[in-house]
Amino acid sequence: MTVESVSPRTPAGPGTSALREPPSAGGAVPVLGHGLHLVRDPLAFMSGLRRYGDVVRLRLGPKTVYAVTTPALTGALALSPGFSIDGPLWESLEGLLGKEGVATANGPRHRRQRRTIQPAFRLDAVPGYGPVMEQEAHALTERWRPGETVDCTSESFRVAVRIAARCLLRGEYMDERAERLSTDLATVFRGMYRRMVIPLGPLYRLPFPANREFDRALADLHLLVDEIVAERRSSGQKPDDLLTALLEAKDDNGEPIGEQEIHDQVVAILTPGSETVASTIMWLLHVLAEHPEHAEKVRTEVESVTGGRPVGFEHVRSLTHTNNVVVEAMRLRPAVWILTRRAVTDTALGGYRIPAGADIVYSPYAIQRDGRSYARPLDFDPDRWLPERAKEVPKYAMSPFSVGNRKCPSDHFSMAQLSLITAAVSAKYRFEQAGGSDDSTRVGITLRPQNLLLRANPW
Ligand code: HEM
Repeated sequence: MTVESVSPRTPAGPGTSALREPPSAGGAVPVLGHGLHLVRDPLAFMSGLRRYGDVVRLRLGPKTVYAVTTPALTGALALSPGFSIDGPLWESLEGLLGKEGVATANGPRHRRQRRTIQPAFRLDAVPGYGPVMEQEAHALTERWRPGETVDCTSESFRVAVRIAARCLLRGEYMDERAERLSTDLATVFRGMYRRMVIPLGPLYRLPFPANREFDRALADLHLLVDEIVAERRSSGQKPDDLLTALLEAKDDNGEPIGEQEIHDQVVAILTPGSETVASTIMWLLHVLAEHPEHAEKVRTEVESVTGGRPVGFEHVRSLTHTNNVVVEAMRLRPAVWILTRRAVTDTALGGYRIPAGADIVYSPYAIQRDGRSYARPLDFDPDRWLPERAKEVPKYAMSPFSVGNRKCPSDHFSMAQLSLITAAVSAKYRFEQAGGSDDSTRVGITLRPQNLLLRANPW
């Protein structure tokens, strides 16, 4: 199945009757409000909010933030023109993503930028990336020695960055950069999450070690992007790829876009493109280790579809169970677990009043684990995505790439590589956790395992 092919159940949209004030969530503490819960146990906190209402008021320091807790209303929020990309998540990401890239821009600039990047991600463009995805998926398995302990963080980053860079930016020799990206993004995304839930402004500028480490990692990320742009320019080459499209883009007056916009655009592709895919690969490797029955089923499926030959891009469509394992892993372990928007004008959501300028937050993690949408919600059950069962899933209860005009452009590109990598590693190895592995969840702007170490045993 595709993650969008779920059926409507509840009509969404603002109510027409008299608007109500959303109820407040319990458990606020003086000064920090609910920020403390969002630091201590954010996943449990967000998952527990639906008991207070469909839309719930939270306090983050001095700010009131509205949490949306039902699938129907998250869909309504993402599809409504009354809400823009903004709010705590995007404000905290600004130091990384800037204001001029596609992920953070709004209005006409955003529409123009989507037009620039969209061709590289179209469904019919993805097969063109097939050979690179195949090479990288197999290179990953060939690097591992039987019985060896695999550091899943660096290996997942390596393959995600290499695929994004080779397919979209035609960059080679990315290994050292993958290491840098992985370490820098871990520091930056953890620091940004803190700044989002405890907005203490100037305190984060004090020269504490954690602040200095954050500043260093952020500066290095920007340097890395400058290196990539400078290298392409000095090569004098203009291959038909996304980087050329970004460098050659014109604004609405037909003028070349500025340097800052080019920089922000490359950041907006490279950083979400590597962190989200790498985190998902880590969770997929974890799933294969924790659910050997599904690892075995994937291996058998790959063997029967390929006839024992190396799995290729052309096989992906036929790998039903493998695809369902990927979707189910993304349901339980969504890399993008929290999203925010801002109300453009006084508006309504689900019959509740939302004032202009209000920040709205919701958690795909909470939505995708809700027992009102899924039977046995915490079970890892890939068969729930078989067509007859997937029909039961309420609309927007599984939207890991979001919907509407901000939907991830890379859904097809990402799903193809995730299925191919899962198939390639499962065909060759079964996994078990190795000594020293820590598979607890590290919460930052994204979710990934703290330090997943797996032993790769040949079948
Ligand atoms: C936006 C998820 C991979 C580039 C988004 C959004 C989500 C998402 C949920 C929407 C954010 C919102 O509604 O506020 C994911 C997941 C991925 C993935 C789960 C993989 C497992 C990628 C890759 C790239 C990418 C590989 C690029 C190579 C972007 C960009 C946006 C975006 C540029 C901003 C789109 C806009 O605002 O118009 N992604 N993403 N993503 N993603 Fe992805």
